[in-house]
Amino acid sequence: MTDSNHPSPELPIPHWYHPDSDPLTITRGSGSWVYDEADNTYLDFCSQLYCVNAGHGNEQILSHMRDQLDRIQYVSPAQGNDTRSRLADRIADKASENLSDVIFAVSGSQANELAVQLARSVQDGQKVLTRWQSYHGSTYGGAALSGDPETRAALERHAAVTGHGKFLPPLTENGAFEAASPEELARQAADHLEFVILHEGPAAIAAVVMEPVGGTSGAYPPPADYLGRVREICDEYNVLLVLDEVITGFGRCGDWFASLGEDIRPDMITFAKGCTSAYAPLAGVLLSPEMAAHCRGEGLVTGQTFGGHPVSCAAGHGAIDAYEDGLVDNVSERSPYLAARLEALAEGHDHIAEVRGQGFLWAVRIVDPQTGEPYVHPWRDNTDENPVPAIREHARENGVLVGAGRPDTQLIVAPPFTADRTEIDTAIDTLDTAIGVVFG
Ligand SMILES: Cc1ncc(COP(=O)(O)O)c(C=O)c1O
Repeated sequence: MTDSNHPSPELPIPHWYHPDSDPLTITRGSGSWVYDEADNTYLDFCSQLYCVNAGHGNEQILSHMRDQLDRIQYVSPAQGNDTRSRLADRIADKASENLSDVIFAVSGSQANELAVQLARSVQDGQKVLTRWQSYHGSTYGGAALSGDPETRAALERHAAVTGHGKFLPPLTENGAFEAASPEELARQAADHLEFVILHEGPAAIAAVVMEPVGGTSGAYPPPADYLGRVREICDEYNVLLVLDEVITGFGRCGDWFASLGEDIRPDMITFAKGCTSAYAPLAGVLLSPEMAAHCRGEGLVTGQTFGGHPVSCAAGHGAIDAYEDGLVDNVSERSPYLAARLEALAEGHDHIAEVRGQGFLWAVRIVDPQTGEPYVHPWRDNTDENPVPAIREHARENGVLVGAGRPDTQLIVAPPFTADRTEIDTAIDTLDTAIGVVFG
């Protein structure tokens, strides 16, 4: 079978691959920049997949990895390892005070599946509630948790992914809620969660899982008091609260974890991506002392060969060093400038309904100014006339990479923490031109 549309023959089939897509072949990187095979440069304003937080080629991370390779390359996750133990302590120190222990995994999807497995093992109820307009992974369990219908549909048809329910995110678009203020939105969205818990049956529910700030589903921060109220509701109905900080953890939203400023004492946090700045695969679950005591008492019958790989853990130490040495501060110091530039971009284009985000994680929502709605909603309209990929494509041709949202009615802007004012200016100016050209 031959197909003239497939990517160049030497390219293995890419993830999230569409036959019409034209993936870049990236051969090297430095700081906020990547280079393709023809040595064209691109400002990497999506940190590849919102994960190369420390930028490309960070020497602190590389030297930790080299040292570890020289000492021992692999230790079974069923054994102890000094690098791994020290990293678990460092990660627990960065998280909120009520989290004490770490179980490592390989990917964000697996970390979420592990959190669900643990929640179900301590709770009587088995259902897990997650939000529509969310993303938690694309393995069977991760996809079942996700609110994104495209991801879910791809997996649901192949396996039973029972035991999950969904509730509405705190958003006013797409008919979720109509609220005049963030406070009203927080109250409506929290009341709705309570309604869903009551109607699913509190005793049947093990956990609520949510991203504190929405990730690829639209970088939406929680309205004030929303997360606190969610915690109260979970306490009232004896439901565990798991925060998916796979994107938002390790500085992306301006603090070590996006949930840190909020008094919500999650029972578990899942993390991945930025924990090694993506220099090697690593993920995990942060546990409350109660959850940890349960695991130590009962044991753990599952695991993965590459869970807590020592070279990945070494990369984790290097990444935390780099974040401590100023990169997380860069995010909090420079994000007001990024926010101001994005807001000015929105003012200059009536095709931008809204920009929203926190730290170095932002979404730019594109709409038809006549209707205030997306031109094409990929989950509803069966057409390839969506202008949003064309904006990304134009920006890429002019040397700036930004991400695709779920749904693809928005651009996701998430630079590495190395990004400076000049790079922010270059990226936003390029987006400005791209939007002008596409709608011109
Ligand atoms: C919030 C969130 N959770 C989980 C995942 C899944 O992580 P992984 O792709 O490492 O399985 C992602 C991936 O983008 C994510 O954004």
